Amino acid sequence: MRIEIQGLHKSYQNGDQITEVLHNVNLRVGDGEFVAIIGPSGSGKSTLMNIIGCLDRPTRGVYYLEGQDTGKLGDRRLASIRNRHIGFVFQSFNLLPQYTALENVELAGLYGNESPKRVREVAKKALISLGLEDRMKYRPNQLSGGQKQRVAIARAIVNSPSIILADEPTGSLDSRTGRKVLDIFKKLNKEGRIVIVVTHDPGIAREASRIVDIKDGIVREVPNEVS
Ligand SMILES: Nc1ncnc2c1ncn2[C@@H]1O[C@H](COP(=O)(O)OP(=O)(O)OP(=O)(O)O)[C@@H](O)[C@H]1O
Ligand SMILES: [Mg+2]
Repeated sequence: MRIEIQGLHKSYQNGDQITEVLHNVNLRVGDGEFVAIIGPSGSGKSTLMNIIGCLDRPTRGVYYLEGQDTGKLGDRRLASIRNRHIGFVFQSFNLLPQYTALENVELAGLYGNESPKRVREVAKKALISLGLEDRMKYRPNQLSGGQKQRVAIARAIVNSPSIILADEPTGSLDSRTGRKVLDIFKKLNKEGRIVIVVTHDPGIAREASRIVDIKDGIVREVPNEVS
């Protein structure tokens, strides 16, 4: 997959006040890249992730996904691309409260072409890999924050997406589980998938192949001193 963003602006309107959150963003990400997005709270990291994940559209500028101008696609086409190619770990988990952990992961898997039986197998495997084998039948309100986050990660990877977008995926995890999650992302990345992670954790940023910093609406690449 190829992500190509050119001259992107994003503004929000509140009453008669317009605030520009992202100013003239240019960004290209290709297969096998692991990008960390850093920047202060409110700087537009989630806003950019939502646009990359086709959940939101830019106010101005173009976003090509695999060479396709997403601005020219209707909402349904965009949703179908999202379901097939993009795995999203949201900052606020976004799990469905009425379903169990396993069902939350399975529901995401059912967008693909696999049989329900196969989806169940893959969903279980994903949950087990995140240490949730004894929580599959729990509903979100019966899970801790870190457990919910791991369910959200299992859901994001169940379709083997070509792009994984994770907004603060280790924010509420202990360091051991956080490391596990990072290892899962690294493994998916080694298989050629694009991984983009918003993070405040210098340990994660260090592992990334590129670091992108957002400040005052400006997105700029900063050198990763370690790699
Ligand atoms: N739907 C919206 N309507 C109006 N303003 C919004 C909307 N969504 C985000 N904003 C504003 O855009 C700015 C960037 O928000 P965003 O969520 O992208 O920040 P962030 O970098 O992810 O911050 P954090 O690290 O706290 O998650 C904020 O000032 C926020 O108030
Ligand atoms: Mg955010």
